Amino acid sequence: MTRRLLHTIFVSATLALPLAGHAAEQLNVLCASDNEWCELMRNTFQKETGIEVSMVRKSAGEIFAQIRAEAANPKTDIWWAGTGDPHLQAANAGFTEVYQSPQLPKLHAWAQEQARISGYRTVGIYMGLLGIGYNPEVLQAKKLAPPKCWSDLLKPEFAGEIQIPNPNSSGTAYTAMATFVQLYGGENEGFAYMKSLGNNVSQYTKSGSAPAKALARGETGIGVTFLHDLLKETMAGMPVEVLAPCEGTGFEIGSMSIVKGARNLANAKKFYEFALRADVQSLGIKANALQVPSNASAEIPPKAPRPENVKLINYDFAKYGADDVRKRLLKRWDEEIFAAQRK
Ligand code: F6P
Repeated sequence: MTRRLLHTIFVSATLALPLAGHAAEQLNVLCASDNEWCELMRNTFQKETGIEVSMVRKSAGEIFAQIRAEAANPKTDIWWAGTGDPHLQAANAGFTEVYQSPQLPKLHAWAQEQARISGYRTVGIYMGLLGIGYNPEVLQAKKLAPPKCWSDLLKPEFAGEIQIPNPNSSGTAYTAMATFVQLYGGENEGFAYMKSLGNNVSQYTKSGSAPAKALARGETGIGVTFLHDLLKETMAGMPVEVLAPCEGTGFEIGSMSIVKGARNLANAKKFYEFALRADVQSLGIKANALQVPSNASAEIPPKAPRPENVKLINYDFAKYGADDVRKRLLKRWDEEIFAAQRK
């Protein structure tokens, strides 16, 4: 072999190395927030790091089911966003990785607490408050007075007028179910409320924000979902009014977890650190996301519903995120609430 040939082989091999290395840089993300914010996170991270991100948006319950199904051979590296209970359930069931970020002290106490109770398998990234929305035009046309309280939703005149998500797929709906159980003083009482509510429900939607979108389109008079998802429609000029129920309400600690056995673990950690940064959390505003960010230095969207302005229950995240409790409540909901609607 001539020296020149040897040199050519060496140079081509050296040039090929970083290219091969670059092609291997990837990350598989399951995103449980609104599409607009998922996309912005993906694009910004990709641009900053050069890591190729494959991202799919699903509701929190669906993501939990996927991660459980893939547990022996994970295809997902990181689960970003979505209500905290299924993240805690995944932590509890051992589907997610222990990781303690050096940025933890920069987060609000509620976000750090979420990490602590999970044994550092998840962390809080935002807070969102549950509430009721209504379309004043739809209600006026039917001469119906708007509700103010959870108890108002049981009035017979609202028959067929309410949309609420299904807790099997939607994390929002699980937050609502756990809220009713805690607010009414026990599982039997909470289920009695949901049973009566079921008489007025026209549809149990797959995703949590679907009732807000249906309200905006005038397809329903009342919707139960997060206040920030409702307000997003109001801000877009849609006829959607938003209220925090008089009895008090529940809330979510939107969370993030690294999947156990992630194939791209180093990149998952990079994304994790990226997602906890104040400047990155402040980007939510650009995607019209109105949750309260967990990094104490992040910008809070001016219109974000704030916990200090709403009567909140003392939501027991450790209990309602426990594997056995979540499984039991979902089974009971299927048997007593969903089955009754299908009769
Ligand atoms: O649309 C954003 C959001 O409400 C998040 O705040 C929340 O974590 C998530 O969606 C819940 O979605 P789903 O109820 O579809 O699981």
